[in-house]
Amino acid sequence: MGIESSCDESAVALVQGDGRVLAQRIHTQLAEHAPFGGVVPELASRAHIRTLAPLLASLLREVGGWSQVDAIAATQGPGLPGALLVGFQFGKTLAWARGLPFAGVDHLQGHLLAPFVWQGEAAPADRPVFPYIALLVSGGHTALYRVEDALSVTLLGQTRDDAAGEAFDKAGKMLGLPYPGGPVIDRLAPQGVAARVPLPRPMQGRRAQLDFSFSGLKTALWRWREAQGETLSDARIADACAAFQDAVVGALVQQAVAACQQEALPRLVLTGGVAANRQLRQAMGHACRRAGIGLHLTPAVFCTDNAAMIAYAGALRL
Ligand code: KG4
Ligand code: ZN
Repeated sequence: MGIESSCDESAVALVQGDGRVLAQRIHTQLAEHAPFGGVVPELASRAHIRTLAPLLASLLREVGGWSQVDAIAATQGPGLPGALLVGFQFGKTLAWARGLPFAGVDHLQGHLLAPFVWQGEAAPADRPVFPYIALLVSGGHTALYRVEDALSVTLLGQTRDDAAGEAFDKAGKMLGLPYPGGPVIDRLAPQGVAARVPLPRPMQGRRAQLDFSFSGLKTALWRWREAQGETLSDARIADACAAFQDAVVGALVQQAVAACQQEALPRLVLTGGVAANRQLRQAMGHACRRAGIGLHLTPAVFCTDNAAMIAYAGALRL
């Protein structure tokens, strides 16, 4: 059983040792945080306290009770300290009360192993094969890793400032869009024309370094927004979404392909909340085909925060 509470998703899941998800429950706290334009840590902790036990009760009803549970894993970090504390103590207490083994799981390792989690009757034929390069793009992290096997991972490069998801969310805020901006920009971008909003291309021509930076792009969008006057038409907002998404996706694709080439490892896994982005999935697909790189896309439901990836990582650890 996995428990996730590092940010604004409360989640529990029951997963087999081979990655098959038997059941899962996720409560997204969007409604709690939306009025503040971002996650309020104390509200997140309180929402985890309210929701984890009912989610667990509902999960246990579906799977047939505690006899189905062999061990418990909970996210240990990184994340919001108060939010982590709720899920971690919840998991430890349950393990102690039921006499079950317990594992604390690194949230990023969970994201890196999310491509192995699956639903349905039979495991998908295209599960990733070790070793591979992983691009982890979430609200808190943007990094490239060499993943040798489930437990040995080397960091190749990461963002110097904002994470890609954080940049999406801040861009959304500047454009007056609801929180979180990522999925909204994903939805609006196809209606806009990227070329109508001139924005810089982060990391262009700097393939030797495998890092990322989104602060210059963010500032450029802010300047453009300031120059537009009081109100923005829907069409201008869509243009800005298209341009911003294009620039972020371009940087992510360029650096991921460069990492595969530098490491001479033609296998790439895309994971983390931003990996749900449709343009990113499509553009990475084209670039990998051109470069002869095998691409594995984590199913969108397991890209954003979930407890199934935590359960699977915990099972491997134990
Ligand atoms: O992995 P995740 O659920 O939580 C963290 O560990 O951070 O990622 C959340 C981030 C948010 O910044 C959200 O805006 C972004 O992922 N995100 C997206 C999309 N769906 C979620 N960004 C762009 N396009 C999407 N479709
Ligand atoms: Zn995450």
